[in-house]
Amino acid sequence: MATIILQNNEFVIFQKIIFKEAGITLSDKKKILVQSRLLKRVHFYKLNSFADYLRLIQINKPELNEMINLLTTNETYFFREIEHFEFLQKVVILENSHNKLRVWSAAASVGAEAYSAAMLIDSKIPKNRWEILGTDINSEVIKKARIGLYPEKWIDKIPKVLRSKYCLKGRGQHEGKFLIDRVLIPNITFQTANLLENNKNLGQFNLIFLRNVLIYFDIETKQKVVDNVINRLEIGGYFIISLTENLNMLNTPRLKQIQTSVYQRVS
Ligand SMILES: C[S@@+](CC[C@H](N)C(=O)[O-])C[C@H]1O[C@@H](n2cnc3c(N)ncnc32)[C@H](O)[C@@H]1O
Repeated sequence: MATIILQNNEFVIFQKIIFKEAGITLSDKKKILVQSRLLKRVHFYKLNSFADYLRLIQINKPELNEMINLLTTNETYFFREIEHFEFLQKVVILENSHNKLRVWSAAASVGAEAYSAAMLIDSKIPKNRWEILGTDINSEVIKKARIGLYPEKWIDKIPKVLRSKYCLKGRGQHEGKFLIDRVLIPNITFQTANLLENNKNLGQFNLIFLRNVLIYFDIETKQKVVDNVINRLEIGGYFIISLTENLNMLNTPRLKQIQTSVYQRVS
């Protein structure tokens, strides 16, 4: 099969589409990556060029979604940036032990962040008083998050006591994997949502994780996404970004910084 090369002018169009649809800025260095991730779709449809694939996604919405799925970066792991889960345990759970605690994992990927929070919350709060929503633009990761089945090596990051309480070792066809215990499932919902939108239908939250996604956005998009997300935060609720990210250059008068990467909505 002859190799099909992604031409510069075609790459520029992919850059524009992913920016418009997901707000993601793909630098010029990503051209080879885009070529390798999308080549299988070009072959799947037996097309002769990326230009043909570009024409296809203009008229085929599911394939446009597939393209977005292939161009997002979904790296995640359990209890990533442990400081944030300590904050959840020491502050958020205590403050919300008498009302219903609603948590949003706003760029959930395959669900490790949502399930990490769920394990801690479920250990302290009765099931009828908490719920977690995980959302992502990528429909494939959302499908995986709903299943909650992970490679066994991912379990290392989960504290031992929670591991034995909430993780089930896979057998037979699931050998080498572990499954999140079904007791948590009724309290956790996963669905697709685009952070470029206001997402009013999701309701209000006491805690929002927006971690390791702002890095893909330019300043203007960051501002829009952060504004949209803060709209979903209760006054007094907490907003957490990654330790490697910041809100510098953004206008966020509704937020007060509590500690590195942790903010509270004050108005
Ligand atoms: C690197 S993962 C972060 C996962 C998790 N928050 C963590 O910190 O481990 C970034 C996720 O953001 C999602 N994403 C990117 N752009 C998005 C958008 N516009 N709306 C919603 N999700 C988006 C990607 O699909 C990806 O799963």
